[in-house]
Amino acid sequence: MKIAVLNGSPKDKELSISIKYIEFLQKKLPNYQYFILPISTDINKIESNDSYFQSILKTIEDSDVVVWAYPVYFFMIPSQLKKFVELIFKKNKQNVFTGKYSTTITTSSMIFDYHAHNYIHSISEDLGMHYINGISFESIKYIDLLNKEYQMSFINFFVDFIQKAENKQSIPKKYFPISNQINKIDLDIKIENINRNTNKNIVILTDNLENSNIEKMVNIFSSFIKYKIDIVNVNTINIKKECSGCLYCQEKSVCCIQDDVREIFEKKLPNADAIIFAFSIEYRHLTARWKALIDRSTFNAQLPLLKRKICGWLVSGNLRYHKDLSEFIEIFSGAHFLNCVGIVSDEYDNTEKIVELIQNLANDVEKNIENQPIKPFSSYAQTYHLLVREQIASLGAAKYALYKHFRKHKLLKFPYSRPLREIIFFNIIFNLPFIKMIARKKLLNFLIKPYLKLLK
Ligand SMILES: Cc1cc2nc3c(=O)[nH]c(=O)nc-3n(C[C@H](O)[C@H](O)[C@H](O)COP(=O)(O)O)c2cc1C
Repeated sequence: MKIAVLNGSPKDKELSISIKYIEFLQKKLPNYQYFILPISTDINKIESNDSYFQSILKTIEDSDVVVWAYPVYFFMIPSQLKKFVELIFKKNKQNVFTGKYSTTITTSSMIFDYHAHNYIHSISEDLGMHYINGISFESIKYIDLLNKEYQMSFINFFVDFIQKAENKQSIPKKYFPISNQINKIDLDIKIENINRNTNKNIVILTDNLENSNIEKMVNIFSSFIKYKIDIVNVNTINIKKECSGCLYCQEKSVCCIQDDVREIFEKKLPNADAIIFAFSIEYRHLTARWKALIDRSTFNAQLPLLKRKICGWLVSGNLRYHKDLSEFIEIFSGAHFLNCVGIVSDEYDNTEKIVELIQNLANDVEKNIENQPIKPFSSYAQTYHLLVREQIASLGAAKYALYKHFRKHKLLKFPYSRPLREIIFFNIIFNLPFIKMIARKKLLNFLIKPYLKLLK
C-alpha cells in the first residue's frame, strides 16, 4: 500500500508536529510505504518549476491513497496548501486524484478545526476522490499523541481507512459539486464622482481584478458612501513571505516579517472607521493570496486590535452554495471582534437587486459608524476568545506576552488568576533581553520535544 502524504505544514519537517503523527504511523504500521511530500515548505518551487510540480503529481498518481496532513491555520488549511489546491485546478490535474481514497490528519489547538476538515472534504470530492472523515489532534496543551488510548484509536482509524480503500468501499458524498462559474450579471452601471467627507475613513480590502464583478461591486459600494475610501488591493500589496509558523508573534505580539501586511494590520485597519472585505470565491474559499494575509494576521486576532470596528463583506460568487465559507466569514469577523453589519453577494439574476443590496449595506455601514452601537459579541467571537484565553492561561510561559496583554487591557475576564509569584517570576524572566531571544529560539524545540521522546 503506497500512501501519498501531502504535508501542509510550513515548518521544517523536523519541527512539524503534524509530521510527528505521520512518523508515529510509520513506526506502528511499517508495512505501508509513506511518501511525505513537502507541499507547504516547497510551494514556491512547486509553482515556479513545472518539472518539480510534475514529480509531485507523479508520486501522488503512483500512490494508492492520499492523506492530507497539516496544521490548522486560522480555522482553515495554511495558505501554502490552498495555493497547491488552486494549482491542481488551474493546471487541470484533477485526474491525478480521481478515484483515490483520501482522508485528513490535522494537529491544532482544536479551535474551529472542523472548518479546515470540511474544506478538504469538499475539495477531495471535487477532485473525484472518495473521502473518509479525518481525525483531529490537539497538539500543544494536551499532546494527544502521548495518550495511550488516543494512540490506539489513531492506529485503528488509519487501518480502517486503508481497509476501506482496499475493499473499494462505497462512501457517501457530503457536498454538491460546485462550478466556480457564477452567472455573469451586468454590473456596468454609471457611477458619478462624489465629494467625500474626510473626517471618517473606510478601508476596503479587496482582491480586485480589472473588470471583475468584485471590482464593480466595490465601485458601486463606494459610490453610496459619503466618507473617504481607501482601497487596498490584496493582489498587489507587498507580501514578502507567507506565515511559516515560527511563533515569533507569540512572544512579541507582532509578526517578524516586515512588509505591507504589518502596515495593514497594525496601522491601516486599526485607524479605519469601518472595514469592507471584498473578494471573489475561488475553489470554494478565499484565494491563497487572501489566506496568506489572514494567516499573518493571527497575532492580531489574539490581540483584538480591531475590536468593535464596523465591518461588511462583498462577495462575488455563489455564496449560498458555500455554507462553510459563510460560516468562515462569521468566525473571522468574530475572531477579530469585528461588528459585522452585512454580507452581500452578486448571486442574483438582476442588476437592480444587487445594486440595492449593496446600497443597503453602504447605508448600514454609515449608520453604524455614526452611531457607534455597542453590540454584544457573536457566539463565534466568544467561543474563539474563550479558547484562546484557555490556552493563554494554561500555557502561561509560552504565551506570556499575550497573557499580559489580555490582562492589561481587560479584554477578557479571567475567572481565575495565575499565582502571583508565577506572574512576578515570568515578568522578570521574560523581560530580560537575553532570555527573550533564547525563549523564542527554543519555543519550537520546546513544543516538539515530547513527540521526539515518544518516537525515540
Ligand atoms: C498562524 C497560525 C494560525 C493558527 N490557527 C489555528 C486555528 O485557527 N485553530 C487551531 O486550533 N490552531 C491554530 N494554530 C495552531 C496550529 O494548528 C498547531 O500549533 C499545529 O499543531 C502546528 O502544526 P505543525 O507543527 O505541523 O505546523 C495556528 C498556528 C499558527 C502558527
